[in-house]
Amino acid sequence: MDKFIIEGGRRLEGRVDIKGAKNSALPILASTLLVEDEFRIENIPMVRDIVTMKKVLETLGVLVSFNGNSVYIDTRGAVGYEAPYELVKQMRASYYVLGPLLSRLGRARVSLPGGCAIGSRPVDLHIKGMRSLGAQVSVVHGYIEVCADSLRGSHVLLEGANGPSVGATINTMMASLRARGVTIIEGAAMEPEVVDVANFLKRCGANIQGEGTRRIEIRGVQKLSGCKYRIIPDRIEAGTFAVAAAITKGDIYLSNVECDCIESILTKLKETGVIISKDKRGLRIRMDGNIMPTDIETAPYPGFPTDMQAQFTSLLALSNGVSIVKDAIFEERFMHVPELVRMGANLHQESDYVIIKGVPYLSGAQVMASDLRASAALVLAGLAAQGTTEISRIYHIDRGYESIEERFQSLGAEIWRLKE
Ligand code: EPZ
Repeated sequence: MDKFIIEGGRRLEGRVDIKGAKNSALPILASTLLVEDEFRIENIPMVRDIVTMKKVLETLGVLVSFNGNSVYIDTRGAVGYEAPYELVKQMRASYYVLGPLLSRLGRARVSLPGGCAIGSRPVDLHIKGMRSLGAQVSVVHGYIEVCADSLRGSHVLLEGANGPSVGATINTMMASLRARGVTIIEGAAMEPEVVDVANFLKRCGANIQGEGTRRIEIRGVQKLSGCKYRIIPDRIEAGTFAVAAAITKGDIYLSNVECDCIESILTKLKETGVIISKDKRGLRIRMDGNIMPTDIETAPYPGFPTDMQAQFTSLLALSNGVSIVKDAIFEERFMHVPELVRMGANLHQESDYVIIKGVPYLSGAQVMASDLRASAALVLAGLAAQGTTEISRIYHIDRGYESIEERFQSLGAEIWRLKE
């Protein structure tokens, strides 16, 4: 397993191009299964989860050919209907094939994802969405099996105890595209990735309205076809590099960002003392003075994203005051906390929140990555810490950030990958 070695304390400066959004690219790749045709999709981040989705599509009989950050996809051959455990256990987002396969073949069999590093993560809302369209859903031998002779439009509320679900909204939207009549999803997730998927599907001929609001309306169509599409920039990657500028008291220009999508992140950065200037092409993030404390509570979009909580916890660990960070969206999203404590942070976790008493410096240590965003938080802490930080299990960070060490190196960081 590879490790990162970081010599901390370097001020990061320069320009970085933000890659395409992983959490749009995954469902968009899966949704090509809906149609028998060819696609060209651009701005795909070359991260490990995308490679896993490629394997899922290939297992189903799809031709997938990458050229840099673009992919050519041919779904014209016969496609299978089963996503096996070996792949789904590596990446939960494999369940995105459920909706498209149900729509195209009238059946699908996808391994239940089970738990993951950030908690138990139920799929009841995905099942509710499929059932509402008239599909029969059963759980047999660890697999969700869905089948339907025909799908009909329906009115479904897709909201659970923790609010809307990005995955269930997208899966139900994909399954409903050819259903007879109109489907209305109430309590829909409003994340920019949901909008990106809807825009892609509309390019394929789907009739969708209301994406980006709590109510999405889909009118069934008979024909869908392939298309060319460009994925939006990754808002979480942009936020992570912005925190890197703040935590190293640096000055980084982020190009290829959509500022509207990261408003809640920018608001919190400003509260910590970051200076932000925008132009047509991107964002300049600068930090000169002390890091100020601030309180954060994660929420579905347009609220502050749970996928940025860990990175801000690292930043606030170095503030000159007390902050409280609350994150109740997933059960286990504080795995970075004990690791940051090993680096000298003063953090106290109580159920779904952390009390952070800022310290003047962190010191490099051996730490272990536990999930994608927790690993990003440890890299950020290591970049700011005094001395050497060694981060093991960095395959987690490779799931969602393309060539992260090379891009930090280009900004002046001393970070190396040790291959083992
Ligand atoms: C997506 O996960 C993202 N993953 C996650 O990003 C992100 O943290 C999450 O949305 C929230 O923004 C992808 O897009 C591939 P949800 P998803 O369904 O769709 C509950 C990252 O680091 N729920 O919106 O799986 C669930 O337990 C990752 O890039 C149900 O109760 O998340 C949670 O409390 C990690 N029943 C809440 O809804 C369900 O059937 C939101 O989850 C489904 C979800």
